Formats: sequence, structure tokens, C-alpha cells
Amino acid sequence: MPQLSTRHLLGIKDLTPNDIQLILETATQFKDVINRPIKKVPSLRDITIANVFFENSTRTRLSFELAEKRLSADVVNFSASGSSVKKGETLLDTVNNILAMKVDMIVMRHSSPGSPHYLSSRIPANVVNAGDGTHEHPTQALLDSFSMREKLGGDLAGKRIAIIGDITHSRVALSNIFCLQKQGADVMVCGPTTLIPKHMAALGVRVSHDVREALQWCDVANVLRIQLERQQIKYFPSLREYSLYFGISRQMLDELDRPIVLMHPGPINRGVELTSDAADSPHSIILDQVENGVAVRMAVLYLLAQE
Ligand code: NCD
Repeated sequence: MPQLSTRHLLGIKDLTPNDIQLILETATQFKDVINRPIKKVPSLRDITIANVFFENSTRTRLSFELAEKRLSADVVNFSASGSSVKKGETLLDTVNNILAMKVDMIVMRHSSPGSPHYLSSRIPANVVNAGDGTHEHPTQALLDSFSMREKLGGDLAGKRIAIIGDITHSRVALSNIFCLQKQGADVMVCGPTTLIPKHMAALGVRVSHDVREALQWCDVANVLRIQLERQQIKYFPSLREYSLYFGISRQMLDELDRPIVLMHPGPINRGVELTSDAADSPHSIILDQVENGVAVRMAVLYLLAQE
């Protein structure tokens, strides 16, 4: 049986193109499973997974929990608010205490970039990164690629993907760039100069500061939220001005010469990066992304458990 080249999912950077292919193909089978009347398989019946979240989350935490339950794993949930982290316990102590209760896998979200990497070299359990600060969010990129392939009806080689918004502070942006490039896609990032890191061109992506140009160029627009909670200084004058220059409306999408697929990882700030009529338009596959997230996470957990 084909296996992943790694026993942790820390970032897309560490995955081979074959790993990505294997995860996406396995996810196709799990998407069939979760659309059956009985949405459950016994694959992880003997495995216990802890979802350890030090940062807020709606979709990602619920999606992992459902993926785990649909694989018949035992699940425990930890969130930092209300825990002994507030009493001064270290990250490693917290996780080692959870592992002492015979937990096999840790799914973690943390505001510090690199924290899942740090843990993975110090604990025996498999570690899955569910978002580490501004760094990576590998399962989001995988579910985004799965959704693009499903919508475009084939692989992503040569497809044009524009990632639009706060590239500097978004872990979704970096994971998407790595994931798309490993599948041979042509990637553009678009946003205000202040929200695009200087090293972007060195990654081999196109850079644009004109949202209309980006929309006209791409097959898929993956639109990101302004991460105000990670911005210590002002990167643009006001949200109103941001949406004036970089906001996307349904009319802008309807007026393009060719079809476009609109994506967003959520949470959407309606009226900032997308108008409501764009988010809810037929161009949008935003809720398909959420559905696919469960199948993709089932694939990741299933493959990591096969050792
Ligand atoms: C993203 C995240 O947390 O990085 N959301 C998600 O996981 N679906 C994007 C965001 O917060 O804007």
C-alpha cells in the first residue's frame, strides 16, 4: 500500500508531489464515504486523537473532529482558554500530560510559527499542524487543491491561481503557494504592497497589486481575510479603503471574459474582501471547500496512522 514520506504533517513544504497526490486521491474515496447514509468507517478504531487548540477556530476544529469520528477514532478536545496554560504550564508539559493518557496523535493549532515542528521532535505521537501562526496551514491548502481539482475537472498543472489579500500574515497563502507549485500550477499573489512580503518573487510566484488584473488572469481566485489580529501596525489606511481597492463584487466576476472559480478559507469578512453577492454567487465554491475539508482531513489522518 502506498505511504506518505513523513509521519507528521507539519507543512506542505515537507511533502513530496507524490504525497500530495496520494492524499488527494485518498480524499476522493473518503468524500464518497461521507456522502453515504452511513458516513462512518472503522479505519482508526484503535487510535486516540487529541485536538489541541491554542488559537480560535470554528471550521478547522470541527472539521478535524468530524473527520476523526467518521474514521471511528476516539477523540478528546483541548482548548487553551480555560486550561492550565493560564497557570504557566509549558507547551511541552501540556502535550506530554495529554500523551500520558495514551493519545496516539496530536492535531494542534498554535499562534507560534514552528511550534508543531518543535513538538514533533520531542514526542512519540504523530503531529498534524492545524495552523501555526502566520506560517503554514497544510490541511487548508490540501482541501483548497482538492476543491480546485474537483471544480476544474482535472489536475492543476498549468492552471492559473491567484491568491488575493493579506499574503504577509496568512498561513493559508504560504501553504497554498507550496501546494500549488508542487502540482505545477502557475501562482500569482495580489494585494497592497504592504501586505505582500518582499521575498515573494523569490518563491517563483507572480506579484500584482491590481485586483482586476489578477481576476482577469486567473482560473481560480482564492481570496483571504485581512488578519487584523496579527497586525501590530497599520498596513493600509482603513478597511473601507481596502475594500474600495481590493474588495471583490459579483459584478466584477460577472464581467470577466471567462469563467472564474471563487474560493475563501473562511471566516469571510463580508463587505471587506468580498461583497455578500460575490460570496454567495454561482462562481463561489466556498461551502464545497468546507465539505471537502472533512474528506481531506480523513485522508491525512488515515495515511499518517498507516505505519
Ligand atoms: C484560516 C486560518 O485560521 O488560518 N481559517 C481556516 O482555517 N479556515 C484563515 C483565516 O483565519 O482567515
